[in-house]
Amino acid sequence: MTMKEIIPPPPAVVRNDVAAVQALFAQNVVPSYGRFDIVLSHGAGSYVYDLGGKRYLDLGGGIAVSSLGHAHPAITEALVEQSRKLVHISNFYYHEPQGRLAQALVKLIGPGKCFFGNSGVEANEGLFKLARKFGHDEGRFEILTTVNSFHGRTLAGIAATGQEKVKKGFEPAVPGFRQVPYNDLGAMRAAISPATIAIMIEGIQGEGGVTPATPEYLLGLRQLCDESKLLLFMDAVQCGHFRSGRFQSFQRILEGVPDGGKFLPDGISMAKSLGGGFPIGAFWVRAPYADLLGAGTHGTTYGGSPLGCAVALKVLAVIEREGLADNARRIGDYLKAGLLELAQKYPGVIRQVRGLGLMLGIELTPDIHNLPGDASKIQAVRFTNLLHAAGLLAIPTGAHILRFLPPLNLRQSEAEEGLKLVESVVAKLSK
Ligand SMILES: Cc1ncc(COP(=O)(O)O)c(C=O)c1O
Repeated sequence: MTMKEIIPPPPAVVRNDVAAVQALFAQNVVPSYGRFDIVLSHGAGSYVYDLGGKRYLDLGGGIAVSSLGHAHPAITEALVEQSRKLVHISNFYYHEPQGRLAQALVKLIGPGKCFFGNSGVEANEGLFKLARKFGHDEGRFEILTTVNSFHGRTLAGIAATGQEKVKKGFEPAVPGFRQVPYNDLGAMRAAISPATIAIMIEGIQGEGGVTPATPEYLLGLRQLCDESKLLLFMDAVQCGHFRSGRFQSFQRILEGVPDGGKFLPDGISMAKSLGGGFPIGAFWVRAPYADLLGAGTHGTTYGGSPLGCAVALKVLAVIEREGLADNARRIGDYLKAGLLELAQKYPGVIRQVRGLGLMLGIELTPDIHNLPGDASKIQAVRFTNLLHAAGLLAIPTGAHILRFLPPLNLRQSEAEEGLKLVESVVAKLSK
């Protein structure tokens, strides 16, 4: 008798029954997410399909995760090939995929080492611990972050995050985090105390509304950290991995800026696009600090598993082979230009367009008078519902902002289709 025969079949899920799936959630899933009224079934490339067979152009990319789109054969191949060899082995042992992935990331960033975890917040948490270890003997522990930042949902993650809504109800906050306004070097300088050990910023604030750092800010922070013996961390969980058109957003922001090419932070957190949908996170730490976390000081069971690393290596190989950094820049520029045109044409609906590469945001004009839907819901959610009805997925953030974080292999024709769908919604609202 085979294993398959002795395992009882799972209870039947009524396919094509949206209400049945939603009922499963209502009864069995912690309701911590505000979900849209869509039940997805499968995807292919830049498109996903719901249970009823409706097709959506996915410009949300699973919040900047699906870097190669859906059901990419290279990811399937990596999963199948590696799972035939070794899925998991624990970090008591060495294995090749983890070493090779660390080598590839170090090559892309600069001299240093990598640690692997499972998510973005865990990557940040590792950097927080690294900073505490670095400052421990001097009694320095405080990490400065920025207003409107987002660094994840663990207790330290929400303490680091510069948005009250994620902290509310979970007090007391983990001590040792303070926020100052973003892109304000003077405020950062003024905030440094004798207890400060590190600064963490996003190269492009994502959840905070798609706001890139200025070149002056990045270079100024580097100088400030050098002067005050602080570690400079970049949270690249959302804006990294070629989304900006370069591996790291700071590389794109500092293009053509004198001495910009010499800029390096001391630590970078990564996740999301790294695994193209397979959960894997990592941090890179610059060479002088790379051995601070010695044996026994940090770890996570699944971190850097053979399977996760094999997939991440494959994602990197496809990005390189298919020139997806350049694609992100080219299609991103095209999409941004198109969105800017829409903002000019319909100022009553779109107030601003921001972002770099395939990390773009539109800020809606507040109080769009004829926006349909439940008035108790924020504008961004009501607008997103209209995009869904038109067949487009995008990601709302804050009251008025929508993000486009599509696969890095988005085609020109798909970007054109996306712009047409956005315009179909915007044009109706501007009447
Ligand atoms: C900039 C940034 N940091 C950290 C995180 C947390 O990542 P995760 O949800 O994988 O823990 C996110 C998630 O959206 C993010 O955008």
